[in-house]
Amino acid sequence: MRGRFITLEGGEGAGKSSNLEHIHRRLSAAGKRVIRTREPGGTPLGEQLRALLLDRSQSAMVADTELLLMFAARAQHLGELIVPALERGDWVLCDRFTDATYAYQGGGRGIDPERIRVLEQWVQRELRPDLTLLLDLPVEQGLQRAGARSDPDRFEQEQEDFFRRVRDAYHARAAQEPERFRLIDASRPLPEVQAQIDQVLDAYLAEAG
Ligand code: TMP
Repeated sequence: MRGRFITLEGGEGAGKSSNLEHIHRRLSAAGKRVIRTREPGGTPLGEQLRALLLDRSQSAMVADTELLLMFAARAQHLGELIVPALERGDWVLCDRFTDATYAYQGGGRGIDPERIRVLEQWVQRELRPDLTLLLDLPVEQGLQRAGARSDPDRFEQEQEDFFRRVRDAYHARAAQEPERFRLIDASRPLPEVQAQIDQVLDAYLAEAG
């Protein structure tokens, strides 16, 4: 049987890393073989594209280039890792996917979502995540948690307004696809966030068999 494709999304300071670890442990404990990966990145070529995308010295990069590099990394990720893993029955747990493109390049940079949809269809064909957990918290709280970074990357150096548009775009995505999205209140202390995640995963595992 084909594996399941689970993605984790969220803004700055949402606690993605510790929660990703938690989700991985929970799925593995349920007997699933889980491949953990991330975007942009996840393959040697994708990680090189990630380095370019996050490099602060790439200050001349225009929004369309950023968008196309995200999808170039994604095409490689799908072909080299995600699709083969799902086909052999493994579960794939991915730190960000195309919802992040709608949020950051769409909401943040202001690219028309219709143009993103064209690339999504072109690169992914029918493939979409089966389940998406969105770690949601107010922008000010997230930025406070993330703290003053001594060496912010090209996205981290953006202003609060940018992250507000990112959050709004994530909310719009979740509202468009309530079947796929589970909103997690990430403003709570970590044990409470993990309890919410456990509830979602237990229900999903019971359904997925
Ligand atoms: P990370 O900090 O969660 O590892 O993600 C790296 C950055 O890449 C993060 O600031 C969000 C950004 N990003 C996009 O702008 N578009 C995308 O499609 C993806 C996957 C990530």
